[in-house]
Amino acid sequence: MALERHIICKPDAVPQGQGKAFTVNGMGVALFNVDGEFYALEDRCSHMNVPISNGYVHERELCVACPWHGAEFDLRTGKVMTPPACENINAYPVYVEEGNVVLEVENE
Ligand code: FES
Repeated sequence: MALERHIICKPDAVPQGQGKAFTVNGMGVALFNVDGEFYALEDRCSHMNVPISNGYVHERELCVACPWHGAEFDLRTGKVMTPPACENINAYPVYVEEGNVVLEVENE
């Protein structure tokens, strides 16, 4: 499997301390900005499959809380940190290159 690179936005498209939803290859991606560092997760809470891109971002702990029942996911890894979700979600490599936010996803 090869990694595919996608330019998804300019860095200022995601306000500091918040997330935003994007679609990459038909897949929902939640992009978060914490102090100019970007993190990308699958935009899906593993508890009831709702989007997490509009969840509350805990900047110090680097996690996002699902807006429905508050399960928290690590922004770096997608690892679930608190219930009621119990499955991890995908995290994607993301970085800023030449003024664009670039995401890498596996091309199956
Ligand atoms: S849907 Fe996310 S915690 Fe329930």
